[in-house]
Amino acid sequence: MSKVRIIYICSKCGARSAKWQGKCFECGEFGTLDEKEEVTALSKNPRLGRMVGKDKAVSLAQIELDEVNRISTGFVEFDRVLGGGVVKSSTVLLAGGPGLGKSTLLLQAAAKISSILPVLYIAAEEVSGQIKLRSRRLAIEEDNVLVFCEIDVGVISSLIQDIAPQIGLVVIDSIQALSSANSNSYPGSVAQVREAASVLSLLCKRYSLPLILVGHIIKSGAIAGPKTLEHLVDVVLYLEGEQLSDIRLLRGMKNRFGSVLEVGVFKMGEKGLEEILDPSVRFMAERKLMVPGAVASVVLEGARPLVLEVQSLVSPSGFEKPLRNVVGIKYNRLLMLLAVLRRRVGLNFSRYNVFVNISGGVKVFEPGVDLAVCLALASSLKDKVVDAKIAAFGEVGLLGEVKNVTRQTQRIEVASRVGFSKIICAREASNLGKALCLAGI
Ligand code: TYD
Ligand code: MG
Repeated sequence: MSKVRIIYICSKCGARSAKWQGKCFECGEFGTLDEKEEVTALSKNPRLGRMVGKDKAVSLAQIELDEVNRISTGFVEFDRVLGGGVVKSSTVLLAGGPGLGKSTLLLQAAAKISSILPVLYIAAEEVSGQIKLRSRRLAIEEDNVLVFCEIDVGVISSLIQDIAPQIGLVVIDSIQALSSANSNSYPGSVAQVREAASVLSLLCKRYSLPLILVGHIIKSGAIAGPKTLEHLVDVVLYLEGEQLSDIRLLRGMKNRFGSVLEVGVFKMGEKGLEEILDPSVRFMAERKLMVPGAVASVVLEGARPLVLEVQSLVSPSGFEKPLRNVVGIKYNRLLMLLAVLRRRVGLNFSRYNVFVNISGGVKVFEPGVDLAVCLALASSLKDKVVDAKIAAFGEVGLLGEVKNVTRQTQRIEVASRVGFSKIICAREASNLGKALCLAGI
């Protein structure tokens, strides 16, 4: 049995309300609630209707664990972030700012996967000529990558239904460019994106097909609205990087089939994205000048220790209010460390402009980098070079103490493997003064 009820749906954000109101309670927009009839299943006892049938309930001990069926993307780094490959019938959202390389990464992965299973690549933003140009640049001419340029969700759904048995993966580039006739709002709006993603994801699940959706990050950093898509999909990955740097990090934000602490490192080159299997070795190989202000550190990217260089430049300021500029660390953290250096070890930066940069375009938001930042600042201020064989990590507290950080042993292992013979951390130096002495500043 079914019944029809009236509900009100916001054309901007897709929020649902049982009664009409002038202002949407979720996005705050006025006059966006539209009336819609919805057919609902009617059960005599609604509570019972939702319960699992008695014969279907099994004890935890009896549940058999199927081996999760995964498809390798052909990239070790991509597979690692996914938890070992794309799980069949899962929906993956690959989000990132414009121009970072989402289409490039997926076209390269599609080509690699297509040697085993054909891939359907739905290009909703570009025409086939543009895809061809990109594929030439990437030297991809695979027959098994089927490109379909379409924005209509209905047309895409029928194509998937028609060819589902012959394909192994569907890529939608991008979900924001799709248009669904079932939603009244304009293409790209949150309501449309949500509708398109849920229709396609259900369809692919029915055929046990993995689906990868590309999602653009809007100005505020969200993916097409307030966390709309993150709930609909199984895996959310972010491709991050600075426009001026060629390093790209692929980070897991949600993963129903793996750890969200994994990070994949890539480099954008002339022939697309190249994975960097040992980023610490790569970052250190790029280290050229040993001048005051440069100190190596071991920071955590997810669960992975990365060796990179903290660079600092301290120069006399002609301004009343000297400059403080950071790339890769938090501005307020620098202000705190400058205050600690002044009060605990007497280093005064009030007449100097201070610049801090993390090499490789990596953003570090964990406190393990504090000690290396302090040493780099002191090294530049005093114009003393820190030995190239020294790496430093540790959280610096307000009292000038150096604190232990997570995964200390793994950090030391990685630093030693890359070739650092002296590692300064909380074990060797309990406070900033001792750390400065050990670094020879
Ligand atoms: P693209 O994959 O189109 O980014 P997105 O889909 O995330 O918007 O890649 C865009 C940038 O990558 C563009 O500026 C050109 C650059 N690029 C390379 O540097 N090398 C390459 O081989 C390719 C294909 C692109
Ligand atoms: Mg693109």
